[in-house]
Amino acid sequence: MDRIVSGIRPTGNLHLGNYFGAVKSFLRLQEEHDCFFFIADYHSLTTHPSPDDLAGSVKNVLVEYLACGLDPEKAVIYLQSDVPQVAELYLLLNMNAYMGELQRVASFKEKARKQPDNVNAGLLTYPVLMAADILLHKAGKVPVGKDQEQHLEMTRNFAKRFNHIYKTNFFPEPVAYNFGHQLVKVPGLDGTGKMGKSENNNNAIFLGEDLKKTRKKIMRALTDAGPTRENQEKPQEIKNLFNLMSIVSPQPVVAAFEEQYNQCTIRYGEMKKRLAEDVITFIEPIYEKIHTLHNNNQYLEDVMKEGARKARESAQQTIEEVREITGFKKFPR
Ligand code: TYM
Repeated sequence: MDRIVSGIRPTGNLHLGNYFGAVKSFLRLQEEHDCFFFIADYHSLTTHPSPDDLAGSVKNVLVEYLACGLDPEKAVIYLQSDVPQVAELYLLLNMNAYMGELQRVASFKEKARKQPDNVNAGLLTYPVLMAADILLHKAGKVPVGKDQEQHLEMTRNFAKRFNHIYKTNFFPEPVAYNFGHQLVKVPGLDGTGKMGKSENNNNAIFLGEDLKKTRKKIMRALTDAGPTRENQEKPQEIKNLFNLMSIVSPQPVVAAFEEQYNQCTIRYGEMKKRLAEDVITFIEPIYEKIHTLHNNNQYLEDVMKEGARKARESAQQTIEEVREITGFKKFPR
């Protein structure tokens, strides 16, 4: 049985990128492994959310985790800030994380470019906090999307370094993991990069949003004027649309549109209509559960309490050993 850890930042609602990049693997893994899935509220502070926005997003992510099928009977579902041991491990790991390597991380450089007025130390040490989340439960596998690959590489470096410095093999070297084997990058609807919640809202398809809105967004997804030569290479926005379709639609449907593209007979309106139908068929049951769970505050509170208890227990065991290894010995010495 493997130890699994993963988390999602509460910065709004979950979208299809989160689902197919991470949550889908969580669902499979919880069936047979020792799983810890958390809501990364400390991480979300790098963008300075208001207290109300933060609290609201934490509830959304919890509700959406549960609506997707994460099961508190099978996995430990918890809030990162309910487990203070993570802050201690973060502090200790920071002592062996170097400025140069942190400054070279792609996500740091991108954030520094996007929010030049808020290049805070939390952004710089973001991969250290992530490593603390993972190593706190000594996880071997971390179900995440493609964008987190470099962070996992850093986690392995921090684990190896700790082991080397203290001449131990205490920490495992965890790997980014997807049940479908290759890490996934779900594209957004605006024809550029990945689906993301920090981009504009028309780029992402959210699990909890009004289904009419979802349909509209998909119908408005960027397309070009259409192919003019047989078997023509697809421009990026069309590749994205096919990519999205291959994630949610049955394979023969995708193949039929591919064929139409190659024959220059494709009508993007038809393709988007079919994509919208398949997305809605997929989201609808989750959407309905989200709206039922939102009113069930007592249940949500119970899930968080139980998750915090179990996560703290596992974290405390690790932190005590780390303290011992580091030289914070108990009295008498
Ligand atoms: P976050 O909150 O940005 O995203 C949560 C998860 O969703 C995946 N994801 C995607 N996968 C495929 N295509 C997309 N378009 C897409 N958008 C998002 C992400 O890869 C991620 O798996 N740093 C993490 C949260 C975190 C964490 C951790 C994860 C904190 N500590 C420890 C694993 C282990 C983050 O910002 O994810």
